[in-house]
Amino acid sequence: MSIANAIHASTVETYIESHLSTPDPAITHARETTHQHNIPSISLSPGQGRFLKMLASCTKAQNILELGTLGGHSTIWLSRAIKERGGKVTSIDINPLHRDVATENLRFAGVKVPEDVEILLGAGLDILPSLEKDIQSGVREPFDFVFIDADWPNQWRYFDYGVRLARGTGSVLFVDNAVAALLDYGVVGPEERDEGFVSLVEEVGRDERVEAVVVQTVGARSYDGFLMAVVN
Ligand SMILES: C[S@@+](CC[C@H](N)C(=O)[O-])C[C@H]1O[C@@H](n2cnc3c(N)ncnc32)[C@H](O)[C@@H]1O
Repeated sequence: MSIANAIHASTVETYIESHLSTPDPAITHARETTHQHNIPSISLSPGQGRFLKMLASCTKAQNILELGTLGGHSTIWLSRAIKERGGKVTSIDINPLHRDVATENLRFAGVKVPEDVEILLGAGLDILPSLEKDIQSGVREPFDFVFIDADWPNQWRYFDYGVRLARGTGSVLFVDNAVAALLDYGVVGPEERDEGFVSLVEEVGRDERVEAVVVQTVGARSYDGFLMAVVN
């Protein structure tokens, strides 16, 4: 199968969604209100959201950390993954409008905020050290599943924190846009490499704490890929 067939990605995605997805008012509402507030349309697609939920469910995650809430679309999917086990999602975003819109969208979806989903406002690298302290002092549970989807230059720093904040063997880390970041910052491809950009893939490759894989993806919107890692 030639890569030239990737031109059909959009048509194939529409076909797949028409067969595998059912009307989901909470997801439709979240995506629409996010758009109405002029928040950029950079959330996962509904299919990717369902994949994330299925993955987190398979790992039997109880305590989930998300970096990058936006309008709460992916957060709704993650909250569905922990629903049966009565767990909790902690999501971090730097933008107060995103926090507010996400809170409304989660409540519309029937999710209790802050009981089931807690949204922490601030820069990821400012908040993560306090989460680490809370976990070390037993105030907070460590995380079983970490979803990283915030600013790309900090992907590795978030990943490093994610492993430190993880429960242990079998905990899962999932980083969106792992391939797009490589191309954008010139790590691979025709662009010149940005000085100072720390490559997630190179750092994870040296990291003996985890086993990792990058899966390249093609969808209606773009060519990209995610990195998934399991803690040893
Ligand atoms: C790609 S969007 C997240 C999409 C969301 N996960 C979804 O699929 O619905 C990235 C988010 O990261 C947030 N963000 C950017 N820089 C950040 C930082 N330094 N700390 C925390 N959040 C940040 C942005 O405000 C934005 O809401």
